[in-house]
Amino acid sequence: MGTLAIQLAKHFGAEVTTTASARGDTLVRRLGADHVIDYTREDFAGALHDFDAVLDLVGGATLEESFRILRPGGRLVSIAGVPEPLTATKDLDAPAWVTAAFWVMSLGIRRRARKAKISYRYLFMRPSGDGLRFLASLVDAGKLQPVVDSSYPFDRIAEAFAALEQGHAKGKIVVTF
Ligand SMILES: NC(=O)c1ccc[n+]([C@@H]2O[C@H](COP(=O)([O-])OP(=O)(O)OC[C@H]3O[C@@H](n4cnc5c(N)ncnc54)[C@H](OP(=O)(O)O)[C@@H]3O)[C@@H](O)[C@H]2O)c1
Repeated sequence: MGTLAIQLAKHFGAEVTTTASARGDTLVRRLGADHVIDYTREDFAGALHDFDAVLDLVGGATLEESFRILRPGGRLVSIAGVPEPLTATKDLDAPAWVTAAFWVMSLGIRRRARKAKISYRYLFMRPSGDGLRFLASLVDAGKLQPVVDSSYPFDRIAEAFAALEQGHAKGKIVVTF
């Protein structure tokens, strides 16, 4: 997700700071990252402050720490953290009990966001032809580069998933048919 998020943020004119390990440093800089923090060596929350927006792709402690680097009025969007009510109504078109469950689950993080004057959203991917057409047009124009980590034939799909679960892929892991 990071390999696409960095390029899209740059496309829309943002100045981009990202965390990455030394293994990913060259790649994220090639994709356009302006500043890189090695998360294995440095606490990003101690080094950064007054950001307008954070896109959290990691969750857990990284999501918690992200609050510290945002300015009041900033936006925190996570795809790996805690879902909140809008996830159910906007992203999933889910029944009322799911909205209620997400409301309860996200009580703590929403309270924290309110206190810090930060808007928190969990984003759940939903299929969108328009969205994919837009991304494809950027790819065709050479403005968005899909990064492929590795490719597996269908009969080795278990190996593909095992590699994905290691959590160290540099881009997409592709299964070919
Ligand atoms: N909400 C949704 O709709 C949605 C959709 C897709 C994915 N997700 C979630 O989003 C997360 C990311 O997905 P993904 O496909 O990008 O996973 P991934 O391909 O497994 O991401 C692995 C990459 O993340 C790097 N990484 C790990 N911890 C990091 C940190 N603290 N800071 C910076 N980089 C770090 C690893 O770098 P090193 O190996 O070099 O450390 C590796 O290059 C997952 O939790 C996934 O479940 C959610």
